[in-house]
Amino acid sequence: MAKSKLFGKDLICSQEWSEEELIQVLELAEEMKENRFNYQPLLKDRTFFMFFYNPSVRTRQSFECALTELGGHAQFLEPKTMRLKTATTAGETVEDAAKVMSRYGCGIGIRILEDMVSRYGEGDELIREYARWAEVPVISMAHDKFHPCQGLADLMGLRTHLGKELQGKKLLLTWGHGALARSWSSVQETLLISSRFGMEVTLAYPAGYDLDPQIIEQTKENCRAKGSRFEITHSPFDGYRGADVVYSRNWVSPDAYRGGRFHKGEEMKRAMRYKEWICDPEKMKLTANALFIHPMPVDRGHEVTDEVASGSRSLIYEIAENRLHVQKAILALIASDLW
Ligand code: CP
Repeated sequence: MAKSKLFGKDLICSQEWSEEELIQVLELAEEMKENRFNYQPLLKDRTFFMFFYNPSVRTRQSFECALTELGGHAQFLEPKTMRLKTATTAGETVEDAAKVMSRYGCGIGIRILEDMVSRYGEGDELIREYARWAEVPVISMAHDKFHPCQGLADLMGLRTHLGKELQGKKLLLTWGHGALARSWSSVQETLLISSRFGMEVTLAYPAGYDLDPQIIEQTKENCRAKGSRFEITHSPFDGYRGADVVYSRNWVSPDAYRGGRFHKGEEMKRAMRYKEWICDPEKMKLTANALFIHPMPVDRGHEVTDEVASGSRSLIYEIAENRLHVQKAILALIASDLW
């Protein structure tokens, strides 16, 4: 029995893995997409535990399919049914839960988003606390800061359509209006991973919708290291000019976490005021025939029009499918001892 060099490694943010390690995941995912059912035994008889503090369509189903296709089982868990200790209730500690789960399974996935934490960063701390005590690898299945599997799936889609050399390709990551009050996790992950691979990045949003300043600094640093450009604009139009890829997505303002709770209702009302912030065919005409990407679920008619989301340049379903392949690759590399 053999293991990959990545065996046992946690995945909380792609920035914490080297470029070589990320490319290893992407290349294996591409191979697994080509030969989808040839990897059955790699997690034979193994169980992967999935803690969902928040709901999901793609993440839950794609992890369940991934484990099935690798010969194992994905166990869905709702933390609210597990008597876990919280800030306000007595119960089992993260240390005990993580150590016990490690005796049963080959890995732990955790999803905890903004409406399940009292301040930005608390979800990230919780995942890192699980990773500290677990004796098996821990994967973020989207938390308040990052969504590494989504970032890798995005990159896999861009490599397929723009080529493996993404240096110099222009990404517009633009805020979109809407009533869903979305997390920063997917957009922050894509800022980091796209800049890491040399893309020129324009971030567009209305004044007042700043993201985490540390992530912005890291994105600038990634661009500096690759000799590429990073800019921020508050225009809903300018960033479209010459873009190769457009990613339109709503996210909450930093005010959303005031006073130890998440103000979802206020954020939803506030975001609906900016109706010009929508990705539509007129704006797409300014681009270099750009691809459209989005992690889904798509807020059609707000973040993006139907024509763009379902148009011939949209990669939304392909990238949703890529979630399966990148997660199979990650799990095979970090949790299988059957290579
Ligand atoms: N993109 C994504 O994570 O989708 P779900 O929220 O449906 O899992």
